[in-house]
Amino acid sequence: MDHFLYQDGALCAEDVPVAEIAAQVGTPFYCYSTATLERHFRLFDEALDGTDHLVCYAMKAASNQAILKTLAALGAGMDVVSGGEYARAKAAGVPGERIVFSGVGKTHEEIHAALSGGIRQFNVESEPEMAVINEVALSLGMRAPITVRVNPNVDAKTHAKIATGKSENKFGIPISRAREVYAHAASLPGIEVVGIDVHIGSQLTQLEPFKLAYEKVAELTEALRADGHDIRRLDLGGGLGIPYERSNTAPPLPVEYGQMVKETLGHLGCEIEIEPGRLIAGNAGIMVSKVIYVKEGEDRQFMILDGAMNDLIRPAMYEAHHDIVPVQEPEPGAAPTTYDIVGPVCETGDTFAKGRAMPTVAPGDLVAFRSAGAYGAVMASEYNTRPLIPEVLVHGDQFAVIRPRPTFEEMINRDTIPEWL
Ligand code: LLP
Repeated sequence: MDHFLYQDGALCAEDVPVAEIAAQVGTPFYCYSTATLERHFRLFDEALDGTDHLVCYAMKAASNQAILKTLAALGAGMDVVSGGEYARAKAAGVPGERIVFSGVGKTHEEIHAALSGGIRQFNVESEPEMAVINEVALSLGMRAPITVRVNPNVDAKTHAKIATGKSENKFGIPISRAREVYAHAASLPGIEVVGIDVHIGSQLTQLEPFKLAYEKVAELTEALRADGHDIRRLDLGGGLGIPYERSNTAPPLPVEYGQMVKETLGHLGCEIEIEPGRLIAGNAGIMVSKVIYVKEGEDRQFMILDGAMNDLIRPAMYEAHHDIVPVQEPEPGAAPTTYDIVGPVCETGDTFAKGRAMPTVAPGDLVAFRSAGAYGAVMASEYNTRPLIPEVLVHGDQFAVIRPRPTFEEMINRDTIPEWL
């Protein structure tokens, strides 16, 4: 459920007509709903009721500080994957003890910054990385809390580019080697083992792969405890999918996921951390764009928008589907038109949808891409010297620009010209 509904024929974000925002901000832009963000966070938080837990929002999904503050106010922790994300989470006021640091290639500098600024734990992805964390911690006279990310060799049954839990993927340490790696960790004076981490992929639409992975984690927990390690925390990653196509069957709900977690791992008495990104932000955001032209091709009609692949790369990158709806509610029963929906960037890949039947539109009309809140704005670029797309946050009947559109001048002035030119 989200808060982007038609009211009196106009698509609204909560109580604000999207067209009003467009008139003030221009197009294209991303628009998030506070109520939806909050609702989705709470769904996860409540799904783990009765278990000691922390929901660490995977901020890579949508990392604007206004979004982070909204979630942090509800008690969210953050999952960060870079020094930049760590700094952003801190800037948004998230305390270090609620930040977990994931990612396959944490640098010396990033580790130093996180240890100095406060960190809940590092999710370690390799032995060389563990060595650097140990070294940096010792140089600061500290012990770094860590989990080891294990790769359970489970097929997440999702798009190949976002599956992470198979042995051929670059992530984690093979679960078969985990005991050896934990034994090594225990011998390092700058390392404090606190738990186990696993994340098998994103946009999972079934519970079974999670369950298979978590069963392996449960087994490993017992084995590591028997080896003398104090495994008290399990980070289960993110990955629960969202319904991108309203017509399709919906993925499992957070409450079902939470139930499965309790059944699979509850007996261990560990604190549970989860790192959802997409499910919190995805349906809490839309991308709004304007129709520039409708062009007659030989055998098709092209709907040419002012938004492009640099603003929303998911269709080009993962063949992702986003529902696209007119901002002005169509008349009931109006005959649909079939379009190829494209942006103005000079690449055939700049195609959002092919052969999509939708209500007939005309130049100047606004359309909204649904389910664009996660991995939308954060993956945007200035390709073709198109200004980085702005972001707007709605709260009830108010809205605010939370990242303005840069002017051409601002963009161009970021280049510096060498002396010899
Ligand atoms: N934890 C870790 C360690 C991750 O790598 C990710 C996502 C998450 C949590 C959050 O997963 P989520 O709950 O959002 O599925 N750009 C792609 C998705 C990349 C996901 C990368 N890792 C897309 O647009 O579909």
